[in-house]
Amino acid sequence: MKKILILFSHPKFEKSRANSILVDKIKDKEGVTFCDLYERYPDFNIDVEAEKELLTAHDIIIWHHPFYWYSCPPLMKQWIDMVLEFGWAYGPNGNALNTKKCLNVITTGGTRALYCEKGTNSFSVTEFLRPFEQTANLCGMRYLPPFTIMGTHKIEDKELHDYADKYDKLIGLLQQGLKLADVGNFSFLNDIPQLNT
Ligand SMILES: Cc1cc2nc3c(=O)[nH]c(=O)nc-3n(C[C@H](O)[C@H](O)[C@H](O)COP(=O)(O)O)c2cc1C
Repeated sequence: MKKILILFSHPKFEKSRANSILVDKIKDKEGVTFCDLYERYPDFNIDVEAEKELLTAHDIIIWHHPFYWYSCPPLMKQWIDMVLEFGWAYGPNGNALNTKKCLNVITTGGTRALYCEKGTNSFSVTEFLRPFEQTANLCGMRYLPPFTIMGTHKIEDKELHDYADKYDKLIGLLQQGLKLADVGNFSFLNDIPQLNT
């Protein structure tokens, strides 16, 4: 079974509705290490060696966060800046993460329909996530499409619980070895047939 590390980043988790439902469902799942970055590093002083050890011990890295200004909250960025060191994660001999898989799990206030050329947000989620995709690529990781919960302000708790069930199922598929080749041309993992049967 593949080992999964969920790096969770939410600056206001005590006020969260969407992510608290998702996290409740998956945080104690077998084979999953759930790491709440804001709980672990409230002062932003990241223990780089401990994080590198965690990464080394896992096969799949999930960046799980609410979408904030079309990106991640600041501690998630701090984690990327501090932990993915030259010569370790990338660059000459920087191959510690080679062949691991990586993806974003995001919640957004905007609905999917708003994330397109003619929508309020002008660009697709895939386009906004390019820096994450290329960060993973540069580190030799295989970047999978995101799993998204979109339009959170309009979603009832019942539907959020359905998303949490789907997230749980996705983790099961990843643990069994879901690969990029299995995902086809889908822009969102939400849409792959394996999650919808
Ligand atoms: C500072 C801030 C920035 C946000 N930026 C975006 C954004 O760029 N796009 C978007 O769709 N939603 C944005 N939102 C909405 C959040 O993504 C949404 O409230 C969150 O995903 C809901 O999850 P929660 O209930 O766990 O907090 C933003 C919210 C805050 C507080």
